[in-house]
Amino acid sequence: MTQLLLLHPLTYPQDSHTPAFETAPIPRRLTLLIESYLSVDILNDRLQDLSQQFQHPQPRPWQPIDWDSINPSQIRGIDPLIFLAILAGSIDTETPIRGYTQTSRQYLEPLYPQMARFVGGTVNDQGDLVELGLWEKEERQHSPALQRLYTQLSGLKLMPMPHDPRSYEPTNSPHRDLFEHGLHRVATEYGATCLYLWLMAHSTGALHTVLAELLIDEINHMTKFWGFGRWAYPQTSLLTVLRTLVGTSWGGANRQRSRFSHTLQRMMEVLHWEAWSIPNKLTLLWTFAQVLWQLWRWSRSLKTEQLNCWLGAHPESQGAAQ
Ligand SMILES: [Fe+2]
Ligand SMILES: [Fe+2]
Repeated sequence: MTQLLLLHPLTYPQDSHTPAFETAPIPRRLTLLIESYLSVDILNDRLQDLSQQFQHPQPRPWQPIDWDSINPSQIRGIDPLIFLAILAGSIDTETPIRGYTQTSRQYLEPLYPQMARFVGGTVNDQGDLVELGLWEKEERQHSPALQRLYTQLSGLKLMPMPHDPRSYEPTNSPHRDLFEHGLHRVATEYGATCLYLWLMAHSTGALHTVLAELLIDEINHMTKFWGFGRWAYPQTSLLTVLRTLVGTSWGGANRQRSRFSHTLQRMMEVLHWEAWSIPNKLTLLWTFAQVLWQLWRWSRSLKTEQLNCWLGAHPESQGAAQ
């Protein structure tokens, strides 16, 4: 399996359509999905792919999907109305992707132009976008796919209600700005990964297949952003990461606190968390913990020499995050 994945990095196991998966309880399904889609081999492969995407950006093609076969009987272990509410919340969260990509591009551009191009493309002297970033090309498929799922499952059309993305707010420290922004970006890709994986455990058939495509994209982006962060900020401790997330370092406390708690609060609201059953709440929390554990184990296995080999020699002059 390892060799197969390395030779064909875009091939993923189709374990989720086996009888063993179909009949397994939700916690077991979650474990199987994490083992299949977030293995160390896959995470390494997705990070290793980044330098190739710098040279020759290639959006990942989706497998063919039988959209017409999607119906509510493919939802398992969750109230279909809650499932639809989660889809609606995800649709809103996935938009407006252009706003997200351009803010990230601006934070990256002064320090890492290649990564800036990967996430947000290129702009001309007038500030007009002349080339899309690969991140945007892949992410902009998500909201339409989720809208199509919503329509198949409910018979209704749903118009997204995008919120205002945070704009570029530079200080006199671009390195620190990028660290704060990048951490938030990794956190949102991680949140999307956990949610789509959890929805996969509650679905079957073509509905499950669409969610798998979303999941593979989110894992791909999360892995690249996380690994790039490990490379760009090699001396950063876990404590610094946690302090930045909860907003007690660098004097940017209020901004960080409001950003992180705002994101969490918004996520709870858009997912209609208060209406979820206790088992649904517990399995989602368990998913967050298990995926984080898997990522943490992988992240610890990334050595500086390996990162420099995959992403190029680190510009030491950039220094650490603290
Ligand atoms: Fe997405
Ligand atoms: Fe994403």
